[in-house]
Amino acid sequence: MTTVFQAFFSRQLAKPSGLFGRLLTARWLEKANAGMNSLTLDALALKPGDRLLELGFGSGYLLEKVLANRLCDFAAGADISPEMVRHVGARLRPYVEAGKAQIRDGDIEAIPFADGEFTKLCSVNTLYFWKDPQRALAECRRVLAVGGRLALCFNAKSELAKWPGHVHGFTLYELADVEAMLAAAGFCRIETANGDDPEQGLFHCVTGIAQ
Ligand SMILES: C[S@@+](CC[C@H](N)C(=O)[O-])C[C@H]1O[C@@H](n2cnc3c(N)ncnc32)[C@H](O)[C@@H]1O
Repeated sequence: MTTVFQAFFSRQLAKPSGLFGRLLTARWLEKANAGMNSLTLDALALKPGDRLLELGFGSGYLLEKVLANRLCDFAAGADISPEMVRHVGARLRPYVEAGKAQIRDGDIEAIPFADGEFTKLCSVNTLYFWKDPQRALAECRRVLAVGGRLALCFNAKSELAKWPGHVHGFTLYELADVEAMLAAAGFCRIETANGDDPEQGLFHCVTGIAQ
């Protein structure tokens, strides 16, 4: 991959845009991140009565899986990419029209939902793009009810640093850094599940309970 294309592709991962974002990045994400999304769904342990929020939903794969399988009562999402918001808004239109889902344009650092609205919250493969992770986690804490669960899935620095594209706008963290950030943001009972697949290598899903 040339450096120019690598920089373009890294920017697409951070914020898919245009035809390339809709037709190629979204489809690529869906395949490449399937294992990470599956580990995250397990870690969320969704049940009837839950209200889920996903930040940075990309193609909308996880939200659709939750809604199609009725894993909880209500599922919402926010993403900074207008292209993904349009794409997922159309993909999930029947659920939105039925009042089972909401899709909004929004940044994890200023989540466009009210305090305590959700019982479960997840974000998969977005940590690297947050400008201020402690602010993002404070926002996640704010929109969760006390006792609500956060699940954050990512590749640690030791894994992602092997991929040359990380130099184009990615900030990398080790697992212990992320666990400490959750604790500092008001989460307790912090646990980590690990996954490994040919697409993403070793990845982690850190969960914490809002206190
Ligand atoms: C690498 S993609 C991952 C998409 C999806 N979660 C998956 O696992 O396939 C990153 C997504 O997060 C979104 N994103 C990046 N920074 C964000 C932020 N600060 N707040 C909300 N969404 C963000 C991007 O627009 C993109 O859709």
